[in-house]
Amino acid sequence: MRCWAIIPAAGSGSRLGADRPKQYLSLHGATVLFHTLSFFLADSRFSQVLVALAADDQLFRHSDAAALPVQTVVGGDTRHASVLAALRALQGRAEDHDWVFVHDAARPLLLASDLQQLFTTLKDAETENFAGAILAVPVADTLKRVANDGTIEATVDRQGLWRAMTPQVFRFQALLTALISSESRAIAVTDEASAMEAAGHTVRIVRGRDDNIKITQGQDLMIAEQIFAWQRQ
Ligand code: CTP
Ligand code: MG
Repeated sequence: MRCWAIIPAAGSGSRLGADRPKQYLSLHGATVLFHTLSFFLADSRFSQVLVALAADDQLFRHSDAAALPVQTVVGGDTRHASVLAALRALQGRAEDHDWVFVHDAARPLLLASDLQQLFTTLKDAETENFAGAILAVPVADTLKRVANDGTIEATVDRQGLWRAMTPQVFRFQALLTALISSESRAIAVTDEASAMEAAGHTVRIVRGRDDNIKITQGQDLMIAEQIFAWQRQ
């Protein structure tokens, strides 16, 4: 049984609104993508690291990440399609029961301790009958359901609510089948777990670190710089 890493990096970073997709912005002297790929390449448990790039990507081959021993695949218009493209590139090489870790290119602050927690949880997958696991953190803020006119309709009980992060790890064949099924049923999936849930699989939550942020908007890159320095103190 082997492990594979898929890094979807075909997004445009529209919410951040920089002059290039956020995975090509610089974090502590290297691109965000370089940090993310290097993290997985440094772990010998992964047989291969695959990165999904936009069809019109002009930046990868000129970036520091181009020197890394990864396999590139052409991604799609959605994150879902990008992950599916990478899974299809594994067909014929990956066994049904291999584990596939999917991790956002835009989360360069993942630490080995979080990855280790996922690996530890997977040891129980067979006996406890779950199909995979994801990192997540409990919701800390009070949640409001808001009407279109900006008024509060309800306060949502946050008990039992978690924010999904990545990595998200599943068996190769189960994930491939679930993502194809979601695509054909036009189910919108923003993470792999939602496709697995829709396919009827049980997915485990692993409590992750709050500093595994996804660079998404505004000051996130600046915050990421601070976290990066703090993690290495
Ligand atoms: N992603 C991808 N293919 C897409 C869209 C997103 O591979 N068609 C990747 C992004 O590159 C990112 C991860 O999925 O690493 C998480 O997506 P998100 O944070 O939404 O990134 P973007 O889609 O680039 O940003 P935005 O939604 O603000 O445009
Ligand atoms: Mg997006």
